[in-house]
Amino acid sequence: MNLTTQRPRLIDLHPAPADISALVRAGMERRPRQLPAWLLYDAEGSRLFEAICEQPEYTLTRTEVGLLECSAAAIAAAIGPPPPVVLEFGAGNDRKAGPLLDALRPPAYLALDISRSALEATCAALQAGHPATRVLGVCCDYNAQPALPPLPELAGQRRLGFYPGSSIGNFDPAEARRLLVQFRRLLGPGGLLLIGIDQPKAVQRLEAAYDDAAGASAAFALNLLARLNRDLEGDFDPAGFRYRARWQPEQSRIAMALVSQRPQTVRLAGGRWSFAAGEELISEYSVKYTPEAFLQLAAEALWRPLGRWSDTAADLSLHLLGQADSP
Ligand code: AVJ
Repeated sequence: MNLTTQRPRLIDLHPAPADISALVRAGMERRPRQLPAWLLYDAEGSRLFEAICEQPEYTLTRTEVGLLECSAAAIAAAIGPPPPVVLEFGAGNDRKAGPLLDALRPPAYLALDISRSALEATCAALQAGHPATRVLGVCCDYNAQPALPPLPELAGQRRLGFYPGSSIGNFDPAEARRLLVQFRRLLGPGGLLLIGIDQPKAVQRLEAAYDDAAGASAAFALNLLARLNRDLEGDFDPAGFRYRARWQPEQSRIAMALVSQRPQTVRLAGGRWSFAAGEELISEYSVKYTPEAFLQLAAEALWRPLGRWSDTAADLSLHLLGQADSP
């Protein structure tokens, strides 16, 4: 068999347009208005997010990749043999799974991501670099996916969930707890979870990371309006909104919002929505947890700590979790 010609298999379970429309209408009824963060990741949004990761102010990705590169062997040792199959939740690029697959050499790797274009690129790159691992992709909203399709590559294997980037911060704590329960379901009894958690830090540094000088963060959020216009029959005037990122200390989170610059009415998803001047549409939250606060949340979802790795500045941690009711 010529391994270099093996092509990753991709299964498309992307939410249907009618379901997206209903989610958007529900989000427009909330106060403040708030849309699911995954809507940011159309093909252009995924590209713009990669540009954010290159900005000097946004250190999260670089720090996490560095931490993974130097701790992957220790993480693999903590997991022990035989290597579990790896399921990555949100796999917009291959930078993070790469070092993990090098150290673990799992029989199979499954990427789940909402952006089909990003998923295809991630899977192709990982398959090319790891010919001994079977690479699979499922295009879906992993938070809403009740179960995985039956995949022979995963049958009977121990599973390791991989959730880097502190992406759990996109959810409020109650939703985050439900997501951790959802991961238990998708990973099955005996499943493990390796999750990256970004810590609270100086306000100035956080606000700069989410509103960089080059405007990558603003372009990423504003692209949501273009996406809504294109896919959901919207008529947003992007010039009528300004991007703002603010640290909210009580909730330990960055709130990213598009702020209406004037009173205006917008058509979207079959409805008409009025914005007052200064009214916000929340595009995304990024909740920051101390390791202690995160482990408390994880315990509530019946995950227990097995290991923790941090960068020297303690900006972020990788937590290895096991199920509270498994040995
Ligand atoms: C992909 C959710 C981890 O919260 O840092 C970065 C998203 N948005 N800049 C984060 C994001 C704008 C990012 N996550």
